[in-house]
Amino acid sequence: MKYRINGGNKLNGEIRIGGAKNSVLPILAATLLNKGTSVLHDCPKLKDVFSMIEILKHLGCAVEFSGSDIIVDSSGVIDYHIPDKLMRTMRSSIFLMGALVSRNNIAQISFPGGCDIGHRPIDLHLKSLRKLGINIKESFGYIHCKCTKIKGCEIHLDIPSVGATENIMLAVSMADGTTIIGNAAKEPEIEDLQNFLNSMGAQITGAGTNTIIIKGVKELHDTEYTIIPDRIVAGTYLIASAITKGDVVLTNVVKKHIESLISKMSESGFKIVTGNDFIRIEPCVRPRAVDMIITLPYPGFPTDLQAQMVSLLSTADGTSIVTETIFDNRFKYTEELVRMGADIKVDGRIAVIKGVENLTGTSVVARDLRGGAALVLAGLGAIGTTIVEDIEHIDRGYDKFDENLKNLGADIERIM
Ligand code: EPZ
Repeated sequence: MKYRINGGNKLNGEIRIGGAKNSVLPILAATLLNKGTSVLHDCPKLKDVFSMIEILKHLGCAVEFSGSDIIVDSSGVIDYHIPDKLMRTMRSSIFLMGALVSRNNIAQISFPGGCDIGHRPIDLHLKSLRKLGINIKESFGYIHCKCTKIKGCEIHLDIPSVGATENIMLAVSMADGTTIIGNAAKEPEIEDLQNFLNSMGAQITGAGTNTIIIKGVKELHDTEYTIIPDRIVAGTYLIASAITKGDVVLTNVVKKHIESLISKMSESGFKIVTGNDFIRIEPCVRPRAVDMIITLPYPGFPTDLQAQMVSLLSTADGTSIVTETIFDNRFKYTEELVRMGADIKVDGRIAVIKGVENLTGTSVVARDLRGGAALVLAGLGAIGTTIVEDIEHIDRGYDKFDENLKNLGADIERIM
């Protein structure tokens, strides 16, 4: 599938931001823990969400996705083995390791898939779960996990890994004793997982700080929960508005979750008006370059908005430098931006972007989820027509992307 975009339309209007992909995925894994019914509201219709639902159904759950509500009945889980083809569909399948071992004391999974944005090991996940008393063997491409009882303990993460933090929380919510996670990731999605698990009766505190304390409980009960808004989708539409010199209002957003982006866009000359749950960006004639953007764990500048920001800086006045500290190969999309006339030099984890007057439309290829979204944004502001190929990557993280952009005034079509 492809997008055909005729650039130059200013985006105007209002858009409501839906639930966060990187929140609903670990929370769906967590629905395995209560052996009952969980009702989730404001869930986005994304490929990764459908993949996670397929895994839950494979394990024996009954899952219904109606409107933006997902209802999971995990009373009938009969399996603990996840076939390789399902595991490879996304990175988030790794969360099932913690959830399955917590529920069954056994799990058999293979290595997860996910965007090709560099080496994505799971060593911290495995080391942490072994420390909790889980016997983990890797053979023939599968990871066999087994334990008699998970025993809470102190775990200090070498890297504040989002996934490893979440996997540990899933594994120890019903463990014997207390677990303390040091150097934990502080992303809002971690807080959302804590709040979801606590709504099931877990006893977790500290999410959002670098120390999370989980007191194991005997069992977890049914719950109903609303997923937090997707801060990366919000940031993507904010940048789309900026690139087209438009005037867009985003509703159902948490300003605190994208403070770092707002600060950089203000530095670039944009006036951003915020209220208690809306953000509005006013157009500016030509953004200024930003001296330095460094992607960091939350609350630093998010790696998942790095590509979109580089698309904006490609036509800014001056030279910007972007350093990607989280993943080791997350600049592939810049080769495609250069085909559109951008002046970008990449050396390892550093990209130097010299602003040009305009980008021009051509045919480009999406290589991963956020890089693909960045190419769409570039096409919205470019002169002429841009064809973005392999947009299946983008479908993994953006619900109704072209429909929403069209409603805001973009000239974008999904074509074969
Ligand atoms: C989550 O990935 C997100 N995905 C990513 O979003 C996001 O970019 C990333 O966190 C960082 O914020 C989901 O939540 C589903 P990490 P995750 O573990 O958990 C290294 C998107 O576009 N590491 O925090 O995989 C790792 O290689 C996606 O929505 C180890 O070395 O990220 C990376 O360099 C892309 N060993 C760094 O830590 C491990 O065992 C951060 O990874 C685990 C991670």
